[in-house]
Amino acid sequence: MRNGARTLILLTLILTLPGMSPGLGSALASSSQQTGSPQIPAQAHKRKNPVPDVPEAVRAGGNLFASQCSMCHGVNGDGRGDLAVSMKMKIPDLRATDLQKKRTDGDLFYLTRKGHRDMPAEKRLSEQNIWEIVRFIRSLGKNPSGPKS
Ligand code: HEC
Repeated sequence: MRNGARTLILLTLILTLPGMSPGLGSALASSSQQTGSPQIPAQAHKRKNPVPDVPEAVRAGGNLFASQCSMCHGVNGDGRGDLAVSMKMKIPDLRATDLQKKRTDGDLFYLTRKGHRDMPAEKRLSEQNIWEIVRFIRSLGKNPSGPKS
């Protein structure tokens, strides 16, 4: 009896604390965010990009973007990658001026790291690599025709 009660309390905790059960937590979070825009913590929003804005970083970020992100986002960030088209995903154009203005580097880092709805969380790349990708996404804003190669 006492054990049963304890199990019940534990279960309630697991169900109410998303942090304790990442899979379930993110499933709940994403279902409640079906229509909303992502919630970005203030601290993540304010983070500065530690990677300098130099051609080498943009190039490294571009290579990573091509291998890890372009199947959905398109090589030039237009959101028309093969997988996105075949799965009819709605993906924002990363080159768009309003997106580039609205998002800080910290936002782009956070969204890449955490994912949102159909966008998978990026857990394999190092922080440094993601910041390089952020540099690349910024360069798309400056060169709307996409990366020169
Ligand atoms: C499986 C397809 C897929 C892959 C792979 C993917 N994304 Fe996304 N991405 C999406 C979708 C879908 C959205 C829109 C999510 C939403 O509905 O809010 C998105 C949104 C984003 C956003 C937020 C745009 C905004 O301002 O709202 C960023 C930044 C982003 N992706 C970066 C990346 C990066 C960087 C990678 C590679 C490391 C990547 N994505 C890989 C599908 C993908």
